[in-house]
Amino acid sequence: MKRIGRNPLWHSASRAAVVCLSLLSLLAAPAAAADEAIELRVRADQPGDTISRYLYGQFAEHLGRGIYEGIWVGEDSEIPNTRGFRNDVIAALKELEIPVIRWPGGCFADEYDWRDGIGPREERPVRINTHWGWVLETNAFGTHEFFDLVEMLGSEAYIAGNVGSGSPRDMAQWLEYMTADNDTTLARLRRANGRDEPWKVPFFGVGNETWGCGGNMTPEYYTDLYKRYATFLKAPEGNRPKRVASAGWDHHTNWTEALASGVERGIDGISHHYYTIPSGVWAKKGNSTGFPEEEWVSTLDRTMLIDGYLAANEAVLDEHDPEGEIGIYLDEWGTWYDPEGGHEPGFLYQQNSIRDAVVAALNFHIFHRHTARLHMANIAQTVNVLQAVVLTEGDRIVRTPTYWAFDLYKPFKDATFVPIEPGETGEYSLGEVSVPQLSATAALTVEGDLVVGLVNLHASEAIDVAVDLEGFAAAKASGRVLMGDSIDAHNTFENPNAVKPEVLAVSLDGGDFTARLPPRSVSVVRLRP
Ligand code: AHR
Repeated sequence: MKRIGRNPLWHSASRAAVVCLSLLSLLAAPAAAADEAIELRVRADQPGDTISRYLYGQFAEHLGRGIYEGIWVGEDSEIPNTRGFRNDVIAALKELEIPVIRWPGGCFADEYDWRDGIGPREERPVRINTHWGWVLETNAFGTHEFFDLVEMLGSEAYIAGNVGSGSPRDMAQWLEYMTADNDTTLARLRRANGRDEPWKVPFFGVGNETWGCGGNMTPEYYTDLYKRYATFLKAPEGNRPKRVASAGWDHHTNWTEALASGVERGIDGISHHYYTIPSGVWAKKGNSTGFPEEEWVSTLDRTMLIDGYLAANEAVLDEHDPEGEIGIYLDEWGTWYDPEGGHEPGFLYQQNSIRDAVVAALNFHIFHRHTARLHMANIAQTVNVLQAVVLTEGDRIVRTPTYWAFDLYKPFKDATFVPIEPGETGEYSLGEVSVPQLSATAALTVEGDLVVGLVNLHASEAIDVAVDLEGFAAAKASGRVLMGDSIDAHNTFENPNAVKPEVLAVSLDGGDFTARLPPRSVSVVRLRP
């Protein structure tokens, strides 16, 4: 970390620009900063890997009000809908330009029979969702509805197949139903159900959390099963999915080790899951709102553990797969709090605050650094479940702070990573826990702009940043900032815009820019040549 005295830029002619923007600054910087600026250097002269757009993926499971009510209300609903999909949610999700959606679970995937979810809806079997609330699963939302959603959103499909309670034949036939381009009985059935053309299936997961709800297996047993199931996953050339194996959830690498050493071919990815629990204790996780500052810091600290977990598993892959062909798919990540009062605990509904937005942005920064091996990341989950981007209640919706974090970081998709020195800096400590005060990331966008993401982790102090741009001559600068008036600031159905991006005042001078980052905030600065 390098803290410098107040940057000379603050005293130069550019100060006039800052003064002109003072009204906006007041809005964007409610707290005083320390009398020093943190200096960062963006190395646009050292471009790195492409930041995969799949790092901004979503996960939507048949869980609680995630699919039913949240996305699908049925054609007869009074909530305005298109073919059963609620218009307000689809519009909000469309704006996020979601690259990929994983479905139908989660734990649900390993009890799902795909045949239940095709054909006339009134004839579809009703089952029990044994994992999530023991509620009735009508199967009104099935394969055709999922691909309708994917196509409406301009997204791509990631199917999670059933290893725990299904057979290799069931899995193979589901893939055939989706992708067959000739005249097989399953292709005919798909056509009879309303879909002529095969769907694109770019990603297929072979089981989910096979160490737990997916079958309570050992890594060695699952490795053999993976080979068996993956052998029969066949599809026409040009539409063969990447096959993803289910693996671990923390710093342990035994699942990656077993798969990387035991599967010689037919594996494109190894899935990893990581949930951020404020206390780190499953039985008493912490609340989504109304939490103390200690839990603000512990949440940020615990979410950043993913950096080391990815590194540990990448090291195993580097050893077994030096060509870098097998990717890590972090296909579930996000915050997990204690159940919200007034909601069915099994539905995993939780509020979402500025803390969640900061968590999301910190994860994005980490993902960018791992993009060479990290091929995908899917936040859990899209609507009404865990760290959702959208919450619904009846015919009302709110875009959560996490939604706005995804919105701010849109320019990073498919952009070229550029190093930033230092990426994490400063120290913010409370009790025994210490996190950086500032986290930063940068990239060259597909349009040729430079974008810099900046997170102020401090609960109460603003930060002045002075950023040197190496190898990029910026002529224009603009910024957006997401902040909250408290550490649990959030959007409600009554006040849906309490946490929403605002203009960040950015001052450009020669090759540098300065900005004041409000406490507990996420900012993205865009520089144009
Ligand atoms: O996202 C909720 C659950 O968390 C998923 O169903 C499961 O895979 C994980 O344990």
